Amino acid sequence: MTADPNVTARLRASGSVFAEDEAELLIAEARTPDELESMVEQRVAGRPLEVIVGWAEFCGLRIVVGPEVFVPRRRTEVVVREAIARARPGAVVVDLCCGSGAVGTAIHAAIAGVELYASDIEPAAVRCARRNVEPLGGQVFEGDLYDPLPESLRGRVNLLVVNAPYVPTDAIALMPPEAREHEPHITLDGGADGVDVQRRVAAGAAAWLAPGGQLLIETSREQAARTFAAFHAGGLTAEVRRADDVDGTVVIGGRAG
Ligand SMILES: C[S@@+](CC[C@H](N)C(=O)[O-])C[C@H]1O[C@@H](n2cnc3c(N)ncnc32)[C@H](O)[C@@H]1O
Repeated sequence: MTADPNVTARLRASGSVFAEDEAELLIAEARTPDELESMVEQRVAGRPLEVIVGWAEFCGLRIVVGPEVFVPRRRTEVVVREAIARARPGAVVVDLCCGSGAVGTAIHAAIAGVELYASDIEPAAVRCARRNVEPLGGQVFEGDLYDPLPESLRGRVNLLVVNAPYVPTDAIALMPPEAREHEPHITLDGGADGVDVQRRVAAGAAAWLAPGGQLLIETSREQAARTFAAFHAGGLTAEVRRADDVDGTVVIGGRAG
């Protein structure tokens, strides 16, 4: 389908860099002219495209995304790739700070028989993750980090995959308005140096990991040294892996010794 030049022009005028592609997508997704008009108005007002259409593409999958939920980013694919490289069939996978549950869902799609659990502190994220994870037979819990996980998972987790907030509080103001104004602060804010939540994740990981289990935490090139230090402080080994094609960085480690 070709994009309506009027829709394209309105999106371009509002600052969209990919106005033609976005117009094509909105036209394809809208069921009526009124719905199209509403979608274009939302986009012109800066709402993320993925929230408007209700899904995001991630690792070749369609992930359901709702309002007030972090839109999965391409760079997070590095976490999925590194997890898949370490996974065995039937692995127990926990997606902590799961947002939409995109990371766990993508690992489940690639590895046979994965036992999938996810958790997030935000009710909107939990509702959204349930739509992605429960049809796969997985479970989603609501609460602070490890608190809501079933005790039966202690010492059984083969892959603990985490994209926790890691933007330093003062740097949030410098982010593009689309993220800063349309994604809840709690999805972004990593505290003064950006590593507050990651430190808590690393400090608690050893109790949940199975022997040989691995913790994978997304970070940025700039924050990698701090995330690395958080692993050591939590009694874990640590290595930093990069994927330049998606500009992604992840720190990976298991119980030291
Ligand atoms: C950067 S988003 C990542 C979401 C998802 N993992 C992804 O990659 O698309 C961070 C997520 O962490 C959640 N979060 C923040 N603090 C948390 C906490 N203390 N316990 C559990 N989840 C938390 C937020 O609600 C948000 O969904």
